[in-house]
Amino acid sequence: MCGIFAYTGKKGKDAGGVLLDGLLSLEYRGYDSAGIFVPESGSVRTPGAVAELRKKMPKDFKGKSGIAHLRWATHGEPTEKNAHPHRSCDGEIWVVHNGIIENFKELKAKLVKAGHTFSSDTDTEVLTHLVEEHLKNQSAEGGSSSGGKGFEKAALAALNEVRGTYGIALQYKKEPDRIIAARMGSPIVLGLGDGEHFIASDPTPILPHTRKVVFLEDGEVAVISPDEHRIFKLDSTKVKRDATDIDWSAEAAQKGGYEHFMLKEIMEGPEVVENTLRGRLIPEKGLAKLGGLETVAKKLETIERIIVVACGTASYASLVGEYMLEEYAGIPVEVELGSEFRYRKSVINERTAVLAISQSGETADTLEALREGKRRGALTLGIVNAVGSTIARETDAGVYNHAGPEVSVASTKAFLSQLTALALFTIFLGRQRGMTAAQGKEIARALKELPKKIQAVLDTKEKIEKLAKKYAHSRDFLYIGRKYNYPIAYEGAIKLKEISYIHAEGCGAGEMKHGPIAMIDENFPTMAIAPKDSMYEKMISNIHEIKARKGPVIAVATEGDKEITKLVDDVMYVPETLEMLSPILNVVPLQLFAYYFAKEKGLNVDRPRNLAKSVTVE
Ligand code: AGP
Repeated sequence: MCGIFAYTGKKGKDAGGVLLDGLLSLEYRGYDSAGIFVPESGSVRTPGAVAELRKKMPKDFKGKSGIAHLRWATHGEPTEKNAHPHRSCDGEIWVVHNGIIENFKELKAKLVKAGHTFSSDTDTEVLTHLVEEHLKNQSAEGGSSSGGKGFEKAALAALNEVRGTYGIALQYKKEPDRIIAARMGSPIVLGLGDGEHFIASDPTPILPHTRKVVFLEDGEVAVISPDEHRIFKLDSTKVKRDATDIDWSAEAAQKGGYEHFMLKEIMEGPEVVENTLRGRLIPEKGLAKLGGLETVAKKLETIERIIVVACGTASYASLVGEYMLEEYAGIPVEVELGSEFRYRKSVINERTAVLAISQSGETADTLEALREGKRRGALTLGIVNAVGSTIARETDAGVYNHAGPEVSVASTKAFLSQLTALALFTIFLGRQRGMTAAQGKEIARALKELPKKIQAVLDTKEKIEKLAKKYAHSRDFLYIGRKYNYPIAYEGAIKLKEISYIHAEGCGAGEMKHGPIAMIDENFPTMAIAPKDSMYEKMISNIHEIKARKGPVIAVATEGDKEITKLVDDVMYVPETLEMLSPILNVVPLQLFAYYFAKEKGLNVDRPRNLAKSVTVE
């Protein structure tokens, strides 16, 4: 979603340049317009990317501090007038905002009545006018609107009037050194440098400058200046919070020699699975050691049901997890989309665990579903990649993926790590509930072998590239799979559609006859996930049904399966593994296929249209 970056420093750095570089590193969050305000130079805004903004900025656009924004529209068209930063009538107060001010219509009506003129259609702009109004009232009451705490007071008063979600940075032209940040539902992190401070929606733009960060909590406000930062709550009570050291290097977020982040992230698969497993398996005992669950280990023994909440790719990982946990830990599991769960009345009690799975840890629907679970007394757990993210902080306990930063909008390595973490969680819970040591050992052994098996699939990438080129003219695809690989059919399809903009449909192979098969003809290829597992014969029957209707079929099959080549048009082979872990291998050729397919079409693989990396609004 929208990206925020703000800077104030006394080290002689040019704030304009610092802010532009920061915005560039935030582009992965999605954008439709960009803007910047530097008190000494004014503001520049534009529809489009940071490159457009750079072009529009005059050569002498310089200063010591400023705020900047990448917008992903929620209210109002993505035009220059609606791009942030927004200003007050007198041009003294400026704001950048991520989120939605729900009561902006009533606030705007009140402000218009009081004589304010609005220059955009956004909900955000009410913030600047509200602060302006409070400053005006302070001076009318004899206080000073500059120096002292006038600006802070006015900002606090304004924030106490708004309802909705926000992550903001506010600047007052008369006090250019100081910038105010606030958080309610949309993430805000402060960067603590030496003689310089930063505000951002995530640590990415801060990392080139400092690794010391402080995450704001909902309902908190912070003031930064070159030498210090202060945090307090909306009721003005002071907050003391230690800084966190972020160990992601700035380079880790770079492409590392690959043409796209997506390919780099797919190629990181073996390392990612190793990292997720590191220090968490006791193979000789068939146990999983998950430090993040230690505090709730006893409570977990009493849990009778798990509800997994997630969105998109994370929800497909969750479905695989459902099969793993029910088969090996014998606990009832349901998977619910965050967007559904938060609005319906599912049956929850203190013997229910709500497990949120999220790469970013900021997905609004997943977060709200988690909060709903908490409100209704459930134990809350998380499988999250982004350290310190909101979901990670709000769960009672959890497991970090350790997949490192994922930049490409299409999630690949995070999916592998989610499945790996779910397998670990299955061993952990299973061993509490009757899984034998022999079973635990078998899964642990198979997990340990996964990195080299993933590498073997990655080594076939040239072949997959050729295949993607062969099918690049197709406008539709059906993806089918069964049991553990039924969710992989959905994941394969979402990967293709989100970066290629073509119709791709996931389907449980057994469901095909109930509708989707009507679409099949010689121009409608099917991707059939058909490893040599307990569902192999059934999959082969389904493939026959497609071939009988002249549909081209590409199979994801187990190495050594020569038989299948007689039936299908093309094959992508993967090594054999335990059935429950096979999704971790089978998804890799599908990720590569989607990548090369979109690349062949010349599309913006890392930043597909209409999508954002982290969906922090509903
Ligand atoms: C993945 O390729 C998608 N772009 C998307 O479905 C994503 O998985 C979803 O938005 C959930 O994100 P999260 O894992 O950060 O919560």
